Amino acid sequence: MKTIKDIDVKDKIILVRVDYNVPVKDGKVVNDLRIRASLPTINYLLEHGAKRIILISHLGRPEGKFAPEFTLQPAVNALQKIMPEQTIGFYPLPNKNDAKTIPIPDYVKIALLENLRTNPDEEENDQNFIKNVVHSVNADIYVQDGFAVTHRAHASTDAIKNVLPVYAGLLVEKEINNLKKIIENPEKPLLVIIGGAKVDDKQPLIDKFSKIADQIFVGGKIASEGYQTKDAKIIVADDFDENSAGEKLDIGPLSTTKLSDLITDAKTIIWNGLLGYAEDPAYATASTITAEMLGEKENATTVICGGDTTGFVENLMKDHKNLNYSLVSTGGGAALEFLLGKPMPGLEAIAS
Ligand code: 3PG
Repeated sequence: MKTIKDIDVKDKIILVRVDYNVPVKDGKVVNDLRIRASLPTINYLLEHGAKRIILISHLGRPEGKFAPEFTLQPAVNALQKIMPEQTIGFYPLPNKNDAKTIPIPDYVKIALLENLRTNPDEEENDQNFIKNVVHSVNADIYVQDGFAVTHRAHASTDAIKNVLPVYAGLLVEKEINNLKKIIENPEKPLLVIIGGAKVDDKQPLIDKFSKIADQIFVGGKIASEGYQTKDAKIIVADDFDENSAGEKLDIGPLSTTKLSDLITDAKTIIWNGLLGYAEDPAYATASTITAEMLGEKENATTVICGGDTTGFVENLMKDHKNLNYSLVSTGGGAALEFLLGKPMPGLEAIAS
């Protein structure tokens, strides 16, 4: 897979597909993990003399129509706050019948175009649409850095390969290297920690890892609702913290100790799914201990994936600057599909 490190970007206009599908509340981005995760690529391109960087992304599922709640303006504001030394431009999206060049002043080195999915041609994987996006900004090079959307076959992830060669950005490279290491060549013991609410969502992951992991620990609602298995390497939490109504809302101290011992021994750990009802701090104990142990672990590969789990860990990291992970994955569904070996059109489109 070719990355931006394989090409000369000096004086080039680079079109970068990012995933700024971020939570927005009252016009503000409430979790900027995906925006910050795009910075290594943006900074690399700037440091290597790129003339301009045009970012493109989707936000939500507007089904091909513009509505105010689907504007990427909050993401522009968030990026502007992170990069105060730059003037971040924001421009309308061209359509497939409109090949005009967007006039962008020279002082704008970084710009974002409006939400790709406000045009139905994005999800319809329409080559003419993405061709016009490329032409509208006179892009020389296309970079795929939106790892979280690489499981979709859309114009900006798939059809683009027929318009320009596609290179991977540093986020895509980092996500793939870490996730691949876990499934292909993990340093042993490999521990998989699974939590969350829905067995149906997690069973494929448990099945996949039962072939390669040394241990799988199951917590969360799945465990509290009595998940059963005959596989000796799968350890299911069996004591719980309950509220006054008898609801099992966190795994209990005995199970947490068992998990801590597994974490101590493991060399590679992947965690997907919270271990209790961690929205309530009273039931976040097991998840907090797990996040802290993983973040403080040295000489190990530690990967956090899944939206709720990464959000929880990110929050904890704000107050605990010592926590450090190999990867806090930005790819919710994409990371899981990658781990399960499902087709990834956005990765297949990358030049090799
Ligand atoms: C995500 O949040 O998982 C990605 O941005 C993909 O979004 P989608 O599920 O709407 O395609």
